[in-house]
Amino acid sequence: MTDDELNDALDRAARWLRAAKSVCVLTGAGISAESGVPTFRASDGLWEGHRIEDVASPDGWDRNPALVWQFYNARRANVATVKPNPGHFALVALEDRFGDNFKLVTQNVDGLHLQAGSRRVLEIHGSLRQTRCTVCEAVANRGLEPLGDAPECPQCHGRLRPHIVWFGEGLPDDIWMEAMVSASECDALLVVGTSAVVHPAASLIPIARRKGATVIEVNITRTEASAYADIGLYGPSGEVLPKLLQRLE
Ligand code: APR
Repeated sequence: MTDDELNDALDRAARWLRAAKSVCVLTGAGISAESGVPTFRASDGLWEGHRIEDVASPDGWDRNPALVWQFYNARRANVATVKPNPGHFALVALEDRFGDNFKLVTQNVDGLHLQAGSRRVLEIHGSLRQTRCTVCEAVANRGLEPLGDAPECPQCHGRLRPHIVWFGEGLPDDIWMEAMVSASECDALLVVGTSAVVHPAASLIPIARRKGATVIEVNITRTEASAYADIGLYGPSGEVLPKLLQRLE
């Protein structure tokens, strides 16, 4: 996309957003790329040297929970060193503009949207900061402290697992319903930094579109979402989103 094409697309996107009464945003790993959090599908099926099915699936957990915890403790330690980038902050400004008519649905587990100051956030794939007891199901926020290879529930001493939705697992019903309602009812859906290949998250895009929302894609490249996008803003989200917000002021 040339600079002129991007500027033209930004102008059109800003016009749609000015006319919109409600906005829903779906984010993926790309929005955190400029913060230094690696994306998933850039890495050849490997995730920091591990096969995804070994560290992010119920089977991998059953085979080797200590390996899973080593992997998640490393991700937690990495996230402790990074900061939200201008893309995250632009979405805070967008929320300020729309208030209760705004929802941010994120597939990311890095917590950077909350750290930036976004409040109406649905973390549909869970959070690196949270643990869940495999026995009593209690969910706890443990921040980013190291948890060791076999952390136990402080209440019942059951084995704790990361409170993350792994491949082959369903999304929490209540959070997913809220995400569906937001996507179905919004006037504009902003799709930022996701390859849009993981379902059901990606199905929010056709759902919003079918219900009449304008779909605006922000990504460094075209994706599975592009077929549904009325407007494509192709560039790094840390640059494109602040430019979009500037045009709304
Ligand atoms: N700005 C915008 N987009 C970017 C940037 C950037 N600076 N850098 C990368 N991207 C885009 C890539 O082009 C790609 O489309 O971000 C997207 C990242 O895609 P994935 O790595 O597939 O991440 P995501 O879509 O979030 O994956 C969904 O899959 O692995 C599971 O549960 C995990 O939540 C995750 C889900």
